[in-house]
Amino acid sequence: MRLTKFTCAAAAALTVAACGHHFEPPDKGEQVRQAQALYSSALFDSVTWVSDSARSFEGNEVYAEKCRRCHGTMGKGGTEYEKDLGLHVPSLVRPDWALAQIDSLRHRIFVGHTGGMPIYGVAGLAPRDIDAVADYILNTLRPDVLGTPQGKK
Ligand code: HEC
Repeated sequence: MRLTKFTCAAAAALTVAACGHHFEPPDKGEQVRQAQALYSSALFDSVTWVSDSARSFEGNEVYAEKCRRCHGTMGKGGTEYEKDLGLHVPSLVRPDWALAQIDSLRHRIFVGHTGGMPIYGVAGLAPRDIDAVADYILNTLRPDVLGTPQGKK
């Protein structure tokens, strides 16, 4: 059986002994700390949009591609994928939500979490995409599900 570099690394997360050489992925807590150290709200200073709808559109694309499989189309979680992975995915559309503002959301998406949420700021999404998807959650998904305007920014 031939293992590609990728499957080798992925397998290493489960059984370190699976590959010829030892590959020890950095512990997730350490990765989150590194992402915290890299984060700055100034990363988003140069992000501009030609219109609110361009930002929503981009956010919808990012959400569908990266987030929906865990968080569900309506942001409520409970997907088959989540169950298969044994994750506990919180609803992004809870009425009282401490993260319901753009800065907190960008930060949370950038740094991820030890509980199964990917660390998008380090590998995966540019600040522009993080801004777009945070805006999508805040100003499209939540108002759609909750039926109330959430207030811009
Ligand atoms: C592999 C599954 C998975 C994917 C993909 C994923 N998430 Fe998560 N997300 C989680 C889990 C599990 C949690 C809760 C524990 C944690 O944070 O790790 C979470 C938590 C969150 C939270 C914090 C919720 C709260 O109330 O504390 C936000 C915000 C969030 N995710 C946004 C996103 C966005 C935006 C994307 C896509 C760019 C995304 N997630 C992709 C699994 C995922």
